[in-house]
Amino acid sequence: MQPYLIAPSILSADFARLGDDVAAVLQAGADVVHFDVMDNHYVPNLTMGPMVCKALRNYGITAPIDVHLMVEPVDSLIPQFAEAGASIITFHPEASRHIDRTLQLIKSHGCQAGLVFNPGTPLSYLDYVLDKVDVVLLMSVNPGFGGQKFIPATLNKLAAARKIIDNSGLPIRLEIDGGVNVDNIADIAAAGADMFVAGSAIFNAADYTDAINKMRQQLAK
Ligand code: DX5
Ligand code: ZN
Repeated sequence: MQPYLIAPSILSADFARLGDDVAAVLQAGADVVHFDVMDNHYVPNLTMGPMVCKALRNYGITAPIDVHLMVEPVDSLIPQFAEAGASIITFHPEASRHIDRTLQLIKSHGCQAGLVFNPGTPLSYLDYVLDKVDVVLLMSVNPGFGGQKFIPATLNKLAAARKIIDNSGLPIRLEIDGGVNVDNIADIAAAGADMFVAGSAIFNAADYTDAINKMRQQLAK
């Protein structure tokens, strides 16, 4: 596995010129496009659906697209996102009645599958499905908005998730999402994360290349 992946959240991109902005952040050195889907039901905000994912693919974006579903119900959107070009699809276990079935559904459509844990959601949801999980995503803010502050208790939770993954011996990514920036990314990596979502810290920076390089410098320490 590539040691560290940087995944800018396009929630903070310029939606009026989304294709260009996503191309720019990839040109600046990002590894993965993090795509936040909100339904004004599971979370109190509304963003984008499969059409936008497909439009990015049609525009020529070839990097992996990491679709973070903050929707309820979950299953009906999975075939559409797979068809639209998603590479990874993650969902919140509380939002699915049948977690094992939803994981299988994602994988049956050829995508990598992941579970997302809100700050207050226990990791025990992993207990009986770890073999079907490619990505464990820990939220370090409550989902719904970009630009929030990293919740420090997530560091201990990351360490616990890292232990579970290492004990399993499975090639599972440990992704972190919310309030990640140049100042805290080293501590987050030390706690066990290997995939870093950052929205405002990258898209609000004057120079995307500079922001991503600074994060990689912190990760190289
Ligand atoms: C929040 C989203 C995040 C968010 C991250 O619900 O899942 O991906 O956009 O944004 P920042 O990095 O600004 O906290
Ligand atoms: Zn996200």
